[in-house]
Amino acid sequence: MASSTSYSWFLTFCILTACSLPASSNDRDYAKALLKFKESLTNTTMLADWQDQLVDKLCSWNTPKWTGCLCLNGSFIGLRLEGMGLGGRIDVNSLANLPLFSLSVMSNNFSGPFPSGLNKLRKLRSLYLANNGFNGEIPDNAFSGLKAMRKVVLRNNMFTGKIPISLLELPRLVDLQLQNNQFRGRILDFWQGNLRVNLSYNKLQGPIPATLSNQNASFFFGNINLCGKPLHPCKPKKSILRIALTTAAVTTFALAAFIVLVIISRRRAKPLQYEKSINSFYKEKETSKKNEHGKLYFVRNEMEGFELEELLRASAEVLGSGSFGSSYKAVLFNGLSYVVRRFRQMSNVGKEEFYEHMRRLGRLSHPNLLPLVAFYYRKDEKLLITQFVQNGSLASHLHSKRSPNQRALDWPTRLRIIKGVARGLAYLYKELPSLTLPHGHLKSSNVLLDSEYKPLLVDYALVPVLNKDRAHQFMVAYKSPEYTQNDHVTRKTDVWSLGILILELLTGQFPANYLRQGRGPSADLAPWVNSIVKGEWPSELFDKDMNLGISSEGQMLRLLEIGMRCCEWNPERRWDLREAVERIEELKERDRHDDYSSYASEGDTHSYRAMSDDNVPFSRA
Ligand SMILES: *[C@@H]1O[C@H](CO)[C@@H](O)[C@H](O)[C@H]1NC(C)=O
Ligand SMILES: *[C@@H]1O[C@H](CO)[C@@H](O)[C@H](O)[C@H]1NC(C)=O
Ligand SMILES: *[C@@H]1O[C@H](CO)[C@@H](O)[C@H](O)[C@H]1NC(C)=O
Ligand SMILES: *[C@@H]1O[C@H](CO)[C@@H](O)[C@H](O)[C@H]1NC(C)=O
Ligand SMILES: *[C@@H]1O[C@H](CO)[C@@H](O)[C@H](O)[C@H]1NC(C)=O
Repeated sequence: MASSTSYSWFLTFCILTACSLPASSNDRDYAKALLKFKESLTNTTMLADWQDQLVDKLCSWNTPKWTGCLCLNGSFIGLRLEGMGLGGRIDVNSLANLPLFSLSVMSNNFSGPFPSGLNKLRKLRSLYLANNGFNGEIPDNAFSGLKAMRKVVLRNNMFTGKIPISLLELPRLVDLQLQNNQFRGRILDFWQGNLRVNLSYNKLQGPIPATLSNQNASFFFGNINLCGKPLHPCKPKKSILRIALTTAAVTTFALAAFIVLVIISRRRAKPLQYEKSINSFYKEKETSKKNEHGKLYFVRNEMEGFELEELLRASAEVLGSGSFGSSYKAVLFNGLSYVVRRFRQMSNVGKEEFYEHMRRLGRLSHPNLLPLVAFYYRKDEKLLITQFVQNGSLASHLHSKRSPNQRALDWPTRLRIIKGVARGLAYLYKELPSLTLPHGHLKSSNVLLDSEYKPLLVDYALVPVLNKDRAHQFMVAYKSPEYTQNDHVTRKTDVWSLGILILELLTGQFPANYLRQGRGPSADLAPWVNSIVKGEWPSELFDKDMNLGISSEGQMLRLLEIGMRCCEWNPERRWDLREAVERIEELKERDRHDDYSSYASEGDTHSYRAMSDDNVPFSRA
């Protein structure tokens, strides 16, 4: 264990540097301070010999009187409180006047934030907080002023946030152990000469600074996405700035200056002096602040803020280019991935109204909606920013070739998906009563799946802000029979899209006709629906990938029926959303025994054909 070497290290260090130790005459004061320190600890049974008595000497040569004290030549030099089941708070103030060269509280039961004010312990040369439950972000200035610090051991805790920049202010640092925490972002430009820095098993990403390229590769394992020596080389990815906004006027002088600054600070990185590292860091910060104003607008308070410049500089991957513009995936320094969607034809309303509508979308919150995080407004271009959803879209699961380790969507999963879609849609209807098309663009590629296959609707409620002709040309709602024939949409139009989605989900067939771009007879869904209805025994229609058991067929048939009702040509006879949602909610994974027999025993298509006949009431077992 590293701690066992700390004492011997200290000895060597003192011998080599002839450090002077304080006189022991202050031992009474030290004892008082230690007792004060003990008060804020819990479960101190192991410190029973720390008694309120008038101790003349805490140390008898190298042997402490009190458990856990470190002594050298009769002088108190530190605390080593390891594996004692301690908890509570580390009261730095009461330690501030001790000659504390080493402090270890490893392998206890501490939790909560990094001890506040720790940098008051100016003599500290080694700090061991490993193997506890410390958590939260460490303030950037936590180590400021600790010029003597050589060893910082924080491994096996739950620290989050960035690696604190003040670690760059420790000129003597030789051993930094941050492994097995949850530090995010990029690695600082450590400049200290003989530093060993274990950063493994965190959530770090980005390039490994050149100064650490000769470190053991194991120091970097288990992070999100680190690259560069000693790991694999970094692929030069284009930044969003370059691919998304090359034409945009956002490259103002300030931003250009900023980029130059970044490049210069990178170039300059060769003879790394820590002041330079720090200065350039702060300069970056300042510059981004300057550019931030009025650019990126966050609609949700609880989301971690990031600056547009960070977003623009993040390495980006083109996800695709849809009907309204391209989208990009950007991984930020905080480790989270975002999707940036770029809309060019979104000028239906003025700035005020646009902000108002986006704020309204920002207030929406439902487990089946992917929330808007932020947006960026310019007259001729808007960016909408959401979190990245890992598992892709329903469309890709239904229609793309599966990779070998990807599972097919079975019936219970599809049922959960359609229920989630229905709930999300019902929520939009409830929250956006003034919109004719609360969604407007419901289709399988706009239903994303999270890692548990929970559906998340995207691209909802954009009709009010999109340019009319663009919306009419591309949005699903405008492919509906009522629009293609009568040029109008209703509150039942989204129900029609839901119907198509249900049929697509059950059959695994892509509704190509109706998703074709532009208007005209090709947008007519009839052939597709008819091809489904005309099928023989309807279960032949069902996607084989569902792994249908006969015991679920009744429920699948019901869903098919619901889909047909939602696709009813005439909006008057089409179900409204409430009814569709209620019927969907009633569906179960498996048939009860009588459900199953009512379909399976008839042995012909009669009951199925009856479903598409309007005169026969909705059949229910
Ligand atoms: C401790 O005492 C030994 C023996 O007297 C001496 O050689 C050594 O220099 C002392 N160390 C320190 C750090 O004072
Ligand atoms: C208290 O400390 C003892 C060892 O000193 C340990 O076994 C025990 O788990 C601790 N209890 C709590 C509640 O921390
Ligand atoms: C650690 O502390 C928590 C309270 O913070 C307590 O519930 C738990 O029992 C302690 N665990 C051990 C092993 O001491
Ligand atoms: C890196 O560290 C691992 C584990 O501590 C060790 O086995 C390996 O030999 C080291 N490699 C080098 C090149 O030092
Ligand atoms: C760095 O930390 C990891 C995780 O604890 C460990 O597996 C690895 O051996 C460490 N590397 C070295 C060289 O100590």
